Amino acid sequence: MGVFSTRQKTGQASSLPRHVAVIMDGNGRWAQKRGLPRTAGHKAGAENFRTIATYCKDIGIEYLTAYAFSTENWKRPQSEVDAIMGLLDEYLHESIETMARDNIRLRFLGDTSVLSPRLRALIDETDELTRHITGFQANICLNYGGRDELVRAAKAFACDCVEGKCAPEDLTEAKFPEYLWSSGLPDPELLIRPGGELRMSNFLLWQCAYSEIYVTDTLWPDFGTDELDRALVWYQTRDRRFGGLSEKK
Ligand code: FPP
Repeated sequence: MGVFSTRQKTGQASSLPRHVAVIMDGNGRWAQKRGLPRTAGHKAGAENFRTIATYCKDIGIEYLTAYAFSTENWKRPQSEVDAIMGLLDEYLHESIETMARDNIRLRFLGDTSVLSPRLRALIDETDELTRHITGFQANICLNYGGRDELVRAAKAFACDCVEGKCAPEDLTEAKFPEYLWSSGLPDPELLIRPGGELRMSNFLLWQCAYSEIYVTDTLWPDFGTDELDRALVWYQTRDRRFGGLSEKK
């Protein structure tokens, strides 16, 4: 039983982020270290996503957003792309059975229109089945790119202007996010990057402007609930100033 599940039971779950974002990195290295094909790492990564999502829900985090496939990941060998798509297919099949029962809403961020008709149908079905759930939401970023999201949002706003629905001066920092894939979600307070790389990799560029960033060398399939507890404890030590001055001073 982790620190936060124990705290929640005793009613002490304070200062938890509402929204945690995660770059699920290190699956390939995890597999290679074990002499397994990279796809075995993605499989272990998908299983870990389930574990972490369930734990987040149990301890009272409201949103978990994970980077599953970027707009740039199409550059990988076709066999690896196919394996990741196959895992998503498997995951969605299982999710259709379990998500509504487990009170988890599943939402997808990114351009899913280019995916196979079968995957798109599964995504629509999962979306439909879990749309009413308000307790916990897991977001899977699929064919997602931060720059692509911003360009699409700018285009959509420009189109609304051309159609007379709004004028350029109506655009504010509060309005712009309505045009993003993540419309309606609060910004993640905590971004977790397993696998040790110190970069954003085109993930949630607008949304993570003020996120606290936790990087660990632990590879994603090994990033279990104890490691998430460590990230959350670290988060609670952060002095979030948003460009202002610390309240403590
Ligand atoms: C990055 O690790 C991981 C990916 C590009 C794919 C992540 C996909 C999954 C975990 C499967 C589908 C997800 C769900 C939620 C069902 P990497 O391959 O770049 O690792 P490396 O840096 O060690 O090579």
